[in-house]
Amino acid sequence: MKPDVKLAPSILAADFTRLGQEISEAEAAGAHLLHIDIMDGCFVPNISFGALMIDACRKASGLYRDVHLMIEKPERYTNDFVEAGANNLTIHAEATNHVHRVLEQIKEHGVDTGLAVNPVTPLSYVKEALPYLDKVLIMTVNPGFGGQKFIETCLDRVKEVARWREKTGLEFDIQVDGGIDETTIERVIQAGANNLVAGSAIFGQSAGITERFQLLNSLALQASEG
Ligand code: DX5
Ligand code: ZN
Repeated sequence: MKPDVKLAPSILAADFTRLGQEISEAEAAGAHLLHIDIMDGCFVPNISFGALMIDACRKASGLYRDVHLMIEKPERYTNDFVEAGANNLTIHAEATNHVHRVLEQIKEHGVDTGLAVNPVTPLSYVKEALPYLDKVLIMTVNPGFGGQKFIETCLDRVKEVARWREKTGLEFDIQVDGGIDETTIERVIQAGANNLVAGSAIFGQSAGITERFQLLNSLALQASEG
């Protein structure tokens, strides 16, 4: 069965002075989940926010909180993030020597697991972990900043993981993150992604959150039906 297409607004691009309203607007527009980017200034060259932000999102809406951990040794903080309200923890394959152990740790907390890989990290890092995953995140930019250009060579990576999903019958989501907008969204879906993160294409645009969400969502639906 073809997995449902889900669009995940990334709050990294939101106006933090009006975060509650912006999240409510995204929810009312039909957002399926909320993408929360935690950055430590070490795994990536930027610092964003920590567990308090997950808790704030929980207070602002009932949307599923999809937490993307761009931090070294995520095993140190899984408990804190789950307590703060994460529904999913996506770790980076490059950020720990103990991917399997951390995935088990996340499962023990009763939340969903995700494994992310940077644009040229070998996909074999993910392949071995597939039975333990609810989500594979194929980064389509180098993580750390919003508003970057989509890296075209990542499309073939999405296709490869989609073939694995087909072959194994496993039901993990294939998420893409970085540079997703109206010029790229159809192609990532055609390649096999079903879970799409978009930050600067939804927030901070003059058209407004509702209009931008609906445009991307309708393109996504058309591409998944086509
Ligand atoms: C980048 C983050 C993304 C970011 C995407 O490292 O993981 O989630 O918010 O931003 P856009 O959609 O603007 O590329
Ligand atoms: Zn992200």
